[in-house]
Amino acid sequence: MTNAKREHWDEVYLTKAADSVSWYQPTPEPSLKALDALQLPAAASLIDVGGGASSLVDRLIDRGWSDLTVLDIAAPALDVAKARLGDNAMRVTWTVADVTIWRPGRYYDVWHDRAVFHFLTEPEQRLAYCHALEAGTAAGSVVIIATFAPDGPERCSGLPVQRYDAAALAAGFSPAFTLERDWREEHRTPGGSRQSFQWCIFRKR
Ligand SMILES: C[S@@+](CC[C@H](N)C(=O)[O-])C[C@H]1O[C@@H](n2cnc3c(N)ncnc32)[C@H](O)[C@@H]1O
Repeated sequence: MTNAKREHWDEVYLTKAADSVSWYQPTPEPSLKALDALQLPAAASLIDVGGGASSLVDRLIDRGWSDLTVLDIAAPALDVAKARLGDNAMRVTWTVADVTIWRPGRYYDVWHDRAVFHFLTEPEQRLAYCHALEAGTAAGSVVIIATFAPDGPERCSGLPVQRYDAAALAAGFSPAFTLERDWREEHRTPGGSRQSFQWCIFRKR
């Protein structure tokens, strides 16, 4: 299962330009706004789970963040980000792993996931993700998560997705994670279509 998933995502990043995929954002505005609202110091640690080739880490390096990790199942995705960052790539910890198998060896102040959790359509996959989430966060850690909203697309990158509103997402996580904020976003794809996203911020008790 993991091999098939990895091959799918490897193929995506090896055959498509990073700025042509539907989830591409020139600037990760919603994530930056969420971090601004949380008023986190640049000393905070952040993991971008399924970060792919996102420029979130670029922008956080610009802001002086120094404890950054990007995890993705697809090594070619991380290669795109590393090449773009040049020497700054050394400032980031890069991890190639399937989040549903990976076991974090530490805590992160911020767990960020844009458009990854929604690919977990089986309950056991979501349970495995939640095990990693539990192990990688401590009391006070925040989770910034975005999935397709109930009126969002039914598939992404040719794969089925599970769509969520804030209540459904909250119900998917353990009660240790308190929902602090939620909002919707209309993402404009490079092809010009619109996709409804549900964003949530949780804090671990
Ligand atoms: C829709 S893309 C979003 C990428 C990035 N978060 C962004 O906003 O640009 C989904 C990403 O999740 C990664 N991914 C999918 N399943 C994964 C898994 N089980 N573990 C880790 N990464 C995964 C893919 O390789 C891909 O980079």
